[in-house]
Formats: sequence, C-alpha cells, structure tokens
Amino acid sequence: MLQHKRILLIISGGIAAYKCLELIRRLRGQGAAVRCVLTKSATEFVTPLSVAALSGDKVYGDLFSLTDEHEMGHIQLSRDADLLVVVPATANILARMAQGIADDLATTVLLATDKKVMAAPSMNVRMWEHAATVSNLGLLRHRGIEILGPDSGDMACGEFGEGRMVEPTDILAAIQAHFTDEGRLNGLRALITSGPTHEPVDPVRYIANRSSGKQGHAIASALARLGAHTTLVTGPTRQNDPSGVEVVHIETAREMLAACEKALPADIAVCAAAVSDWRVAQEADQKIKKDGATPSLSLTENPDILRTLSQPGNDRPRLVVGFAAETGDVIEKAMPKRANKGCDWIVANDVSPETGTFGGDTNQVHLITKTECESWPKMSKQEVATLLARRIADQFHPPAAAE
Ligand code: C5P
Repeated sequence: MLQHKRILLIISGGIAAYKCLELIRRLRGQGAAVRCVLTKSATEFVTPLSVAALSGDKVYGDLFSLTDEHEMGHIQLSRDADLLVVVPATANILARMAQGIADDLATTVLLATDKKVMAAPSMNVRMWEHAATVSNLGLLRHRGIEILGPDSGDMACGEFGEGRMVEPTDILAAIQAHFTDEGRLNGLRALITSGPTHEPVDPVRYIANRSSGKQGHAIASALARLGAHTTLVTGPTRQNDPSGVEVVHIETAREMLAACEKALPADIAVCAAAVSDWRVAQEADQKIKKDGATPSLSLTENPDILRTLSQPGNDRPRLVVGFAAETGDVIEKAMPKRANKGCDWIVANDVSPETGTFGGDTNQVHLITKTECESWPKMSKQEVATLLARRIADQFHPPAAAE
C-alpha cells in the first residue's frame, strides 16, 4: 500500500501519456496522493481536466504563473513529494534533464529536486537508439535516476522495436518496491551474472546464444534498489548498465568466472547468465579461410560458474540462486539441477520459442527451493526481478508477522 505517500508525476508529451491516467488511478487506489505537472506538449495528448479529475488535485504546468509561484513554487512542489516519476519520459525531456536545462515547470522541478526520480522512457526505436539518447541515459543513470524499461514491441508509429513505455502496472510495482523494500538489503553484497557469453572461434567469429540479459539486468537493478551493494557481471548485451550497480563487462565464460571470483565475498549470488557450455578447444589466431577444407570445431567444456560459486567454503555466498532455462517438463528438469549444482534456489523457466521468453519482456517462472516449488504467474521480467529480490530480502530479514 502507498498510504500517505506523495507522488509527483511529471507528464511529458509522448503518445504513451494516456497511460498516465491508469497509473494515477492505480496509485490513488493504493492510497497515494498524486500531484501532476504537465509539459506543454503533454497537454496535446491528455487534457489537464482529466488529469485533475483523476488525481483529485490541481494540475501544474506553467512556470511563470504568478499565482502558482506564489502558492506553490517549483521548490515547494519537490519538497512536498516523496518521489518524482517522469512518465512518459520523451527523448526531449530526458535530454533536458541530462543537460540540466530548466525551461519550463517540469524541468525546473526536476533540476530543483533532491528527491528520488524515476523515469519511464517512451519513444520511437530510432530515437531510443540514437547516440544522443544513449549518452543522456548514461548520464542520468550515473546520477542515480532509475530508468524503468522501456519494453520492445509494436509502436504507435507503426514500427517495431525498443522504446515502448513499460505498462502502468510495472511502474506501480517499481514505485511500491521503492517504498516497501527500500534499504532491506543494506549492508549486503550481491553478485549477478547476466547475458550470454561469446566464445571465440577465431579473431572474428564466436559461438553465442540468444540471451538478451533483460532478466539478469532487471534482477541487478531490483537488488540494488533494495540497498544491496550489487555487482553485475555481464556478457555482451544491448542492455544499458543499470543505475547504482557496479558493472563488469566480459565476453567469455572463463572471463565471467574470473570476474565473479574477483567480486567475492558476496552474501547473495544470482546466476542468470546463459553461459556457453562449451568453447572452442583451440581458438585460431588468424581468421579461418574459406578456401581450405571445411573446418570442424573441437569443443571443450567451460567452467560452470554456478556450481563453482555453490561449492562449500568460506567464500560461498549465503544464498546462491541459479536459473534453469528448459523446454518442456520444466520443473521435472530443474529440480535435480538445483541439487546437482549445489545452489540453494533455482528459478526455472520455459524457453521454448512459442513462449517468447528469450529476448522477450515477460517470463513465467517456478521458484524451486530445497523444500518447495512455487509457480508464479506470467509477468514482466521487471516484476519477476522485483518479486525475486523481495524473496531474497525475506530470506535475510524475515518480514515482521502480520498482526
Ligand atoms: O546447466 P545449465 O546451463 O542448464 O544451468 C543453468 C544455470 O547454470 C544458470 O543459472 C546459469 O547461469 C548457470 N551456468 C553457469 N555456468 C555455466 C553453465 C551454466 O553459471 N557454464
């Protein structure tokens, strides 16, 4: 519940602005007080009247309104909020935030605030991938702004790709997690692996897999949000480095293991990476030419990072969580894997192509512990991450019994 929490929504002018209305309704349903600042272009997408009706408060928009500045200056708007959420966050407002531009009420409040800020980007895939946006996001993350999403999928402009705003339920979950779980993992260290590994064949070719890194990166974000000192060891992915997380980029399984061992000791380890089981035994030091005989590759087994981290010893994290990506009979296959690897929990999921899990935004997982198997409904990878992080926090600090 968000009783007595004061959320300031900064609504900028993207096509996803209409989704704010549902977010406001859900936030208020949870007991939060919602106040909204609209940019000028936001008013082209949602009317101040509907925002005011749903939020139950006046809508703010004009920096130079003398009455507003007298009654409720931009500083006061920030002072009166517990959390600021920019939703949708267009490429334009992200750029203005990154550069510290304050040319309307929305950006002035954002520059004047010392409160936590979240932003849910929403834009066309080309704008999302533009070098300017990439660099602005890097700056914002570095400053501790939490970036929610975006998802990929069909866009209002008729294209397909990354840049679609996450759903209001995901934004609500992140807001709830911020308030309920804040600081629960303070003082603990977490180590996460994510993404695929690339195993070189020769200087230009490699063996890889389809892992996007979305789930592992989301888990690193969720654990960091709860206060854990988090290190993410990741193979090559298109994911941005999450805010507040120490990120180590590697390519091969052996590099991943070395980086993990360097990050120890840790209290929590979550191995979500899709590590290549094999590597080429003898990497060619020159590009293999096509004009000779068709080459055959001799493979050798890679180190198993999860099994290594699970081994008893002084450096063993107190909680080691593995993933089991299976096709068909997921639970039956994952249960012995937990025991076999020696980890404490295993998160099992079906990665059959028809599930769209690999590379997709949703996941349906089963949490297998030594004593239980719990099946979670299909949800976004961010929600899986939030729930898993919460379960991990329960393990270290059991929640107080309800009265
Ligand atoms: O054996 P399998 O690859 O199915 O196991 C999956 C789990 O083991 C995942 O948690 C994955 O991150 C981890 N793993 C690993 N190192 C490997 C292979 C898998 O850490 N070489």
